[in-house]
Amino acid sequence: MAKQLSGAGLRGQVAGKTALSTVGIAGSGLTYRGYDIKDLADNCQFEEVAHLILKGHLPNQGELAEYKALLQRQRGLPQALKEVLERIPKDAHPMDVLRTGCSVLGNLETEESFDDQQTITDRMLACFPSIICYWYRFSHDGERIEVETDDDSIGGHFLHMLHGKKPEPLHEQVMHVSLILYAEHEFNASTFTARVCASTLSDMHSCVTGAIGSLRGPLHGGANEAAMDMIEKFSSPDDAEKQMMGMLERKEKIMGFGHAVYSDNDPRNDIIKKWSKELSEQVGNENLYAISERCEAVMWREKKLFCNADFFHASAYNFMGIPTKLFTPIFVMSRLTGWAAHVMEQRADNRIIRPSAEYTGEELRQVPAIDAR
Ligand SMILES: CC(C)(COP(=O)(O)OP(=O)(O)OC[C@H]1O[C@@H](n2cnc3c(N)ncnc32)[C@H](O)[C@@H]1OP(=O)(O)O)[C@@H](O)C(=O)NCCC(=O)NCCS
Repeated sequence: MAKQLSGAGLRGQVAGKTALSTVGIAGSGLTYRGYDIKDLADNCQFEEVAHLILKGHLPNQGELAEYKALLQRQRGLPQALKEVLERIPKDAHPMDVLRTGCSVLGNLETEESFDDQQTITDRMLACFPSIICYWYRFSHDGERIEVETDDDSIGGHFLHMLHGKKPEPLHEQVMHVSLILYAEHEFNASTFTARVCASTLSDMHSCVTGAIGSLRGPLHGGANEAAMDMIEKFSSPDDAEKQMMGMLERKEKIMGFGHAVYSDNDPRNDIIKKWSKELSEQVGNENLYAISERCEAVMWREKKLFCNADFFHASAYNFMGIPTKLFTPIFVMSRLTGWAAHVMEQRADNRIIRPSAEYTGEELRQVPAIDAR
């Protein structure tokens, strides 16, 4: 007999093992393979952290240079994929574009054997920014951009393609931090989706395509876009406070706040918040930052709800001129590392994931004849 459900959403239930990260464990907050998130964000580039998550250790200087060069060589897109991207309309959601792009790539560069899993993952890491920006610039500006830039980093490559010019050092630095913060987060919804798919011994592209679909929702990765849509409607901190009080009275969900695992703080928030402030000073848009801070204060005062990783990401991305609808795809560019590492971990010690359900339907009954229904 299966156990009864202890709560909705499988909250707090252990669904498997991982050596990749800890989330919200007392005293250790968020760690990737034993390193604290702040330590990583303060001292590493995203590619170092991707290497850590995927290959198990922080690279030395030579390994990092080699890994970055390998990723840089893989930025190009097959012509057939470009043709598909050109057919997707401007008003499509970029997460749908990315989901299709990943799926098409899986047809063109299929993972034939699990021995290829690292190569397939590196290819996706290298070319997902190209997929997003190629579609975005073609559908919005009518331009077939060059996706093989010589930028040093994945974040720099993305900003360069998006804006058509090399990014400022501060912006490239913030992209490193942002991609590090989003890279891995234990058994969140999209990662669990990827692991369930992997447990059937499916291919890497299917696992990632499913995970993209799961990340798309506003209760998960889509929260950074939803937070931006909200804060840009506020004209000042006082206006933000007034409108948020109304939203709380109407019991609306405020995106970018709360978390399924953390109870009083998301360790990623302090980190991205600091960078958002620095960007606000650089671009001279201190109002949006002040609005965001007021939202944070109101939510804590009224509901004891805290900003999660998404809330100050919204203003940070906005200050770097990134269109709101591209926010969640950036999350994909990063979380891909966590997804792929979880797929590899699942494959290394696999049993198909197949939980039971608590049945709440009809008692056993007989099928009535069709003319008696
Ligand atoms: C993240 C989230 C899905 C976690 O859901 P959860 O684990 O079910 O949330 P909790 O159990 O902590 O919720 C406790 C209470 O706070 C409320 N609450 C939680 N987050 C809230 C928010 N962002 N705005 C308003 N109320 C919120 C819940 O509705 C619930 O109220 P109730 O007891 O009256 O029903 C939820 O906080 C949320 O929807 N946040 C907004 C979306 C978001 O930012 N997602 C990104 C996550 S990184």
